[in-house]
Parts: sequence; structure tokens; C-alpha cells
Amino acid sequence: MNDRKISASRRRSLGILVAAALGGTVRLPQAADPVRRPLASRPIPSTGEPLPVIGLGTYRSFDIGDSEAESAPLREVLRRFVAGGGRLIDSSPMYGRSEATIGRLAGELGVGDRLFHATKVWTRGRDDGIDQMARSFARMGVERMDLMEVHNLLDVDTHLETLRAWRREGRIRYLGVTHYHAGAYGELASVLERGNIDFVQLNFSIGEPEAERHLLPLARDRGIAVIVNRPFAKGALFRWVRGRAVPPWAADYGAASWAQLFLKFILGHPAVTCAIPATGNPEHLLDNLAAGAGPLPDQAGRRLISTRLADL
Ligand SMILES: NC(=O)c1ccc[n+]([C@@H]2O[C@H](COP(=O)([O-])OP(=O)(O)OC[C@H]3O[C@@H](n4cnc5c(N)ncnc54)[C@H](OP(=O)(O)O)[C@@H]3O)[C@@H](O)[C@H]2O)c1
Repeated sequence: MNDRKISASRRRSLGILVAAALGGTVRLPQAADPVRRPLASRPIPSTGEPLPVIGLGTYRSFDIGDSEAESAPLREVLRRFVAGGGRLIDSSPMYGRSEATIGRLAGELGVGDRLFHATKVWTRGRDDGIDQMARSFARMGVERMDLMEVHNLLDVDTHLETLRAWRREGRIRYLGVTHYHAGAYGELASVLERGNIDFVQLNFSIGEPEAERHLLPLARDRGIAVIVNRPFAKGALFRWVRGRAVPPWAADYGAASWAQLFLKFILGHPAVTCAIPATGNPEHLLDNLAAGAGPLPDQAGRRLISTRLADL
């Protein structure tokens, strides 16, 4: 539905914006702001376990060195995330030092047992996959991984065989598959249709709404949890609305910022279990968490948001 509301030229310009480099520095706030409303949770369909609707992505943002200058803002991001009720933190061996940063900062804060650790396998071959996943466990500081996904479907059948055995043995709790591009949705759908998958992670936002056509309904029908990556189209959505005030009608959905409006558009879809915005900025973390509380748009509300934003 919504993809037809956003013009092809807008989507092209979003694509160009995605490629643009980000500037700016992160200012570390003096004190944590309280999260005013409790973060909502949704059940993971395969078990019913509740999962908070806002998670934390770590691509680029957590790929840092050990210096205190680099660590301090991210330690505050992680501290606020957990204090605000967040649990799912998403990484991958593809993300440089991200897994190790998560393990180190969670250890320093003593919050490792409050996190829902999710990472991925991203290599070819059974044995290389097993070796890579063993390194991920060590880097993230866990003996059991909550969720292990096959990153971008790379050698998916080989790794799913390992993951199904590991789930039976209790080495992982859930397994899944990921992608970030609509061009792979056909293959993603065929993996979901073959069954026995707990989670699918895919890109979905008001700028990249294609998953709504087939994959989100499919995941819902099959009882598969959906993690939404690139909820801000890798930051392009902010460049799209740069210089524009948040419209007054955003308050109808309890959204006080562009980030909250973009996230509520995603969370308003009934197939979505959680979204995983990435940030290295503690203020943005609070902003994002706030989207997971209070009212959400229903399908008619989501269509209205899409139409109104397409007219910007
Ligand atoms: N194939 C896969 O499995 C796959 C593919 C892509 C992504 N992912 C996962 O999904 C996560 C999210 O995707 P992403 O990192 O590509 O992009 P994203 O979350 O859509 O966007 C991140 C960008 O948004 C900015 N931002 C975040 N919160 C903001 C706020 N409240 N206000 C203003 N700007 C804000 C961030 O900058 P600041 O740091 O300045 O806040 C950053 O530039 C990844 O980190 C990764 O964990 C997985």
C-alpha cells in the first residue's frame, strides 16, 4: 500500500541520501532522562515470550576502539537502553568490533544478563560457520545465544542445519534469517515457507515499505517474529525531513519527534515484533525508546501518515 504513496523520485532521492556521509559529533549528556512511559512488549510467536518493541542495532555505531572517548557515549546508550526496559541488541561478525564492544560494555555495566543477545553467522561452510559463531559467543560474553540468524541468507541451508541442532541442544534459544534488501525477498519468503524459523529480520520503514506487500503477512501467517532493521533507512529518513518541523498531527499518535513518528509507523504494523534503530547518541536512544510507549497508529492511521508524508 504505502509504497505507492511515495513517489519514485522521492525513493530515488532517498537512495541517494542513504549514500551520503553523516557529519556531526555526539555530545554526552550530563544526566539520564527518565523514560516516562513503560516500553511495550510483544510475544515471540514460537514461544509467547514477551520482547520489548524497541531493540538496539549496532552496525557502525558499536564498531569502535577501546578508548574512553569512544566508549563513554556508547556505555551511556547501553545503560539507558537497559534502564528503559530495552533487551534485544543486534550484532554480526560483519560489524567489525561491534560484538566485542557489546560484550565489554555490558560487562562494565553488569547488564549482560538483562540483554537478549542476537547475532548472526556470515560465512560459507558448516565448519567455518561453527568457528565463527563460537567467536561471537566469546566476544559477546555469553554461553548461550538468545538468537542466532543467518546473515543475508549466506549459505542459509548449511547454517540452518547447525542452528536447528544447537537449538535442540540449548546452545541458542531461537534461530532466524535476515536480509536488508527487497531484491532478496523472494528467497527470504521461500526460506520462511519451508518452516521451522523463529525470527525473520528485514528492512522496513516508511522509505522502504516493500515488505508490507508479501513478507510481513507471510511472517504473521506462519507465526514468525519480525525484527525490523534499517527503520530509518540507515538515517536517510532524517535527511528527507531535514529543516521541517514535526507536523502537529504526529501528536495524534503520541509522536513528539520525527524518529518517534517513523518508528510508530513501523510498530503500528501487526506483524512487527520489534524494531532495532541504531544510535551512538544517548539522547537519540531515549527518543527511540519513547516510540515504544503510548498509542500506535492502526492500519488506517498508517495509511494516513504515508499519504501525508508523501505530500511533503
Ligand atoms: N542484513 C542484516 O542483518 C542487517 C542489515 C542492515 C541493518 N541491520 C541491523 O539493523 C540496525 C539498524 O539499521 P541501520 O543501522 O542500518 O540504520 P537505521 O537504524 O535505520 O539508522 C541509523 C541512523 O539513524 C540515526 N538515528 C538514530 N536514532 C535517531 C534519532 N532519534 N534522531 C536522529 N537520528 C537518529 C543514527 O545516527 P546517530 O548515531 O547520530 O543517532 C544513524 O545515522 C543495524 O545497526 C543492524 O544492527 C541488519
